[in-house]
Amino acid sequence: MAEKDITMDKVVSLSKRRGFVFQSSEIYGGLSSAWDYGPMGVELKNRIQRFWWKEMTQLHDNIVGLDAAIMMHPRVWEASGHVENFHDPMVDCKNCKNRFRADHIDLDAPCPNCGKKGEFTEPREFNLMFKTHMGPVHSEDSIVYLRPETAQGIYVNYKNVVQTSRVKVPFGIAQVGKAFRNEIVTKNFIFRTCEFEQMEMQYFVKPGDDEETFNIWKEKRMAYYKRLGIDTAKLRFHQHGPGELAHYAKDAYDIEYLFPFGWKELEGIHNRTDFDLRRHSEFSRKDLAYLDEETKERFLPSIIETSAGLTRSVLMVLCDAYDEEEVSEGDVRTVLRFHPEVAPITVGVFPLVKKDGLAELAKDIETGLREDYATFYDQSGAIGRRYRRQDEIGTPFCITVDYQTKEDNTVTLRFRDSMEQVRVKVDEVSLVIRKAIKDYTRV
Ligand code: GAP
Repeated sequence: MAEKDITMDKVVSLSKRRGFVFQSSEIYGGLSSAWDYGPMGVELKNRIQRFWWKEMTQLHDNIVGLDAAIMMHPRVWEASGHVENFHDPMVDCKNCKNRFRADHIDLDAPCPNCGKKGEFTEPREFNLMFKTHMGPVHSEDSIVYLRPETAQGIYVNYKNVVQTSRVKVPFGIAQVGKAFRNEIVTKNFIFRTCEFEQMEMQYFVKPGDDEETFNIWKEKRMAYYKRLGIDTAKLRFHQHGPGELAHYAKDAYDIEYLFPFGWKELEGIHNRTDFDLRRHSEFSRKDLAYLDEETKERFLPSIIETSAGLTRSVLMVLCDAYDEEEVSEGDVRTVLRFHPEVAPITVGVFPLVKKDGLAELAKDIETGLREDYATFYDQSGAIGRRYRRQDEIGTPFCITVDYQTKEDNTVTLRFRDSMEQVRVKVDEVSLVIRKAIKDYTRV
């Protein structure tokens, strides 16, 4: 694929202009690091989530789903190690009062914000968990945390799942949901935010099977991004060195993507051993051992975790899909080359002109497609401009109804990526689109 000049400015501007992402509370000047997903953004996010969910649950016979509460018993976060370990070292510039992660800046250099030298406070540890109180009385006993990862909801429910859904080790539990971290450094649009969504799957295996399973999931997760149509030249693994490993991990690989601002983590695959279940057994004093009914063996399963950011995936998919293509000399179109399964709108339907019954005919065709596809009807402006508007939001297929439609019941079907146009019978257009989605490969 040709190198494209993609800048964050372009991606952010298109996201705002076409209703993907808005600044939170914008009319009040915005809340830094909080973002809202507009009509196109919510569709894109939901579809990425569905793509992941299908891949992780429907296509496996031993992975089930869960949706746990965001707020959990505070002891969960003591057991998980987050109260003790989940913090970043921070320094403040004494001059401008800006706060930085001590491990992200050179403390001997001038302040990246105000330029004054040698004016930082000593590094202090800041816990990243959001704290709040449950109930009317604010005391030490009423503290609850907003979960910083969805994973713990799975661990504390693992016995419930085993007892109610007939899964047997090895098996997985998948979950998508919000997580919250009091991130100090929140730049690069929706890349790192205080409120975000994760798509996590925890796979429970026999102790001793963890290393092999870890390698299998690592490869499966990379294959998933390729199936999603992501540019393979922009994907790579990064293995965590000893200093990088999270407190729960024995081994970890990130899948990184080459964002316009550099290679960054998209997903973490972690070998968490039996750390979490062991700690929850200790803290809850509940026996969390698994009983293998065939061998009568009892053991604490080891856990292989795949943890992807959903909101971060939205940014990755936007950046990866963004293209500017010179259609003819001096005529450049902006196009989002989404995988058709995650495109917010699948089919645009247009009458060539509004008169002579073409609008009604086009509307009928659009209504007929609604049951199967997300459609959009547009009758305003020149046809070329309507195509370009759909290109900008990544609509993979457009149907145009013209005078010939009235004669032979055929329409023009236009493909977003190649801009190729073919004549298709109205009765067959839904099937042709279905096949094109199934056969989709990234150009
Ligand atoms: N349960 C393991 C866990 O939470 P992590 O590496 O801290 O591991 C997993 O996070 C993924 O969640 C990251 O790869 C990233 O995609 C996403 N993520 C983490 N913090 C985020 C933030 N502040 N904003 C957006 N996404 C974030």
